[in-house]
Amino acid sequence: MSPPTDLLTLDVLQANVTLLAEKERLEREQARLLELDRLRTDFLARVSHDLRTPLSSIIGFAELLQSDSHLMAGEQNDYVEAIHRNSQSLLALINDLLDLSSLELGRLPLHPAPVLLSELVADLRAATQPVLAQAGLTTSWPNPVPLAGRSAVIDRRRIFQVLVNLVDNARKFTPRGGQVAITVEPKDDEMRFSISDTGPGISDAQRDQLFRPYANRTDAVPRTEGVGLGLAIVKAIVDRHGGTITLERRSAGGSLGSGCSFLIRIPQPPPAVSP
Ligand SMILES: Nc1ncnc2c1ncn2[C@@H]1O[C@H](COP(=O)(O)OP(=O)(O)OP(=O)(O)O)[C@@H](O)[C@H]1O
Ligand SMILES: [Mg+2]
Repeated sequence: MSPPTDLLTLDVLQANVTLLAEKERLEREQARLLELDRLRTDFLARVSHDLRTPLSSIIGFAELLQSDSHLMAGEQNDYVEAIHRNSQSLLALINDLLDLSSLELGRLPLHPAPVLLSELVADLRAATQPVLAQAGLTTSWPNPVPLAGRSAVIDRRRIFQVLVNLVDNARKFTPRGGQVAITVEPKDDEMRFSISDTGPGISDAQRDQLFRPYANRTDAVPRTEGVGLGLAIVKAIVDRHGGTITLERRSAGGSLGSGCSFLIRIPQPPPAVSP
């Protein structure tokens, strides 16, 4: 015998009340987790900021000692050199943490303005070519002719940081004798940059987590060569520009060895119409 309609309605009502209570509990839990995440990021930003001051002073004193190196015995020079080198990598890490937390908190202000692409490429080349050559890599740079007089609306400092990060990854992970290629292409409504290399590539398993902080840290390079924050910062900066970063080439048929290629696309405002 089926239950009377009134009882059925009561059951449905009770189920609804339970569901509603569960929904409210989950919403409260979500708000609590979001707040915890914000507090964590905020804490990280403050601590990173406060760590920079004493560290800058340690670096300054190490440099002073290095400038008076004749006063020290050979071994002592090595110790000061080690203090300086390690303090510099600690400072780089703190700066990365500060950038990432500021980006996550939406506190990193962007200053987009027209930037001459030929100058951006020249600066990138000056900053990275010596280390690329030292690493035994051949680099192909964009042809300056089509870029002459062309500009893109970007935050110059931050996009430079993005490009340096990607070129530096190509340098770190590509064995000697390999190649690195940089392309810079202004399109009508977007700006495209690509950085490719002939290194080991990135596996499908690694690809899914690629832009998460620390997620892909490998021991392929010495720990002093990075901690695994670079791509997370790169993606956050590109996101803030309303753009995208994609891994275009990773490994051929699942076997590594074909290198990888990152493509960045940044939307551009329509050209101003002259009256
Ligand atoms: N060009 C590349 N070729 C091969 N693997 C790469 C390349 N770029 C990134 N990866 C892989 O992705 C991981 C994450 O890169 P990411 O730039 O975030 O960190 P990192 O270079 O290890 O350290 P950091 O950038 O903080 O100095 C790397 O550790 C490496 O395993
Ligand atoms: Mg990196």
